[in-house]
Amino acid sequence: MFPQVRMRRLRQGKLQNLVRETTITADDLICPVFVDENIETPQEVPSMPGTYKLPVDYAADEAKEISDLGIPSIMIFGVPARKDESGSSAWGNNEVVQRAVRNIRNDISSRDMAIITDVCLCEYTTHGHCGVVDYDKEEILNDPTLPLLGKTAVSHAEAGADMVAPSGMMDGMVESIRSELDNNNFENIPIMSYAAKYFSAFYGPFRDAAESGYSFGDRSSYQMNPSNSNEAIREVELDIDEGADIVMVKPALPYLDILYRIKDELEMPTAAYNVSGEYAMIKAAAQNGWMDENKIIYESITSIKRAGADMILTYFAKDMAKLLK
Ligand code: PBG
Repeated sequence: MFPQVRMRRLRQGKLQNLVRETTITADDLICPVFVDENIETPQEVPSMPGTYKLPVDYAADEAKEISDLGIPSIMIFGVPARKDESGSSAWGNNEVVQRAVRNIRNDISSRDMAIITDVCLCEYTTHGHCGVVDYDKEEILNDPTLPLLGKTAVSHAEAGADMVAPSGMMDGMVESIRSELDNNNFENIPIMSYAAKYFSAFYGPFRDAAESGYSFGDRSSYQMNPSNSNEAIREVELDIDEGADIVMVKPALPYLDILYRIKDELEMPTAAYNVSGEYAMIKAAAQNGWMDENKIIYESITSIKRAGADMILTYFAKDMAKLLK
């Protein structure tokens, strides 16, 4: 009798859920939120249909809506009213992110929301790079950037952030943030490091949203070359040694091999960032009627989890949470 093994036996409707290997819940999702000091009403990001930048005082309502969908955490990105060469609006105590975090913290209805803040300089600097710049050499300087990231992280924690997420790919950023937090009695604030962040064209639409395009050069001297995989392991190992509590791979879908290796080899709590370009492609295809948006969302998020992500940052977080209800 052939075939003896019939894989289709377990694919019968009633039994499928018993043998499902990957399950997503809203607990796995982190919802990005853009707050912008320059606007008075929500503004849709042109290259990210369905994603809005919000005035600072909308943050609490947004957090509540996200929380009501069962999503336990948000990641805050700020667009400041003022930019300068060093990015000082990143760390002042009354700047865009700090204000948004307080806005949420002061609102009792979103008390259970875990607030994560993106720690980087690119949205706050006139040149748009993630570090201090030497204009003569057109170089992004590593070590002078580190104390600024430390200060920024502390200011976020002071405002009430539950976790900080450095995304600038500077060497030593986790260690300097860890020691600054510790020196300021924030030894219990964890660090989610964008540890394996690639130099990716998939960030294009985000730069629309966060107004973080750069004035010269590109980010290839600090973000990783998409050709490399072993290097991601080293990056993540270093961040673990420096004190990272959660490590992130970014982007997600084109880098599932990296995600798989990192989860498999390093066994850390691992996040994946389903970035703006991944979102924009799906939205564009769906708007043209070329793909079924909800099915693509479900399949994409499932694939990212299956590859090894414990948590997924995605602009589809709210849509996904609704699909799961
Ligand atoms: C800032 C930052 C970027 C993203 C998250 N944090 C942009 C970049 O590095 O250019 C990208 C997110 C996305 O594309 O969704 N350092």
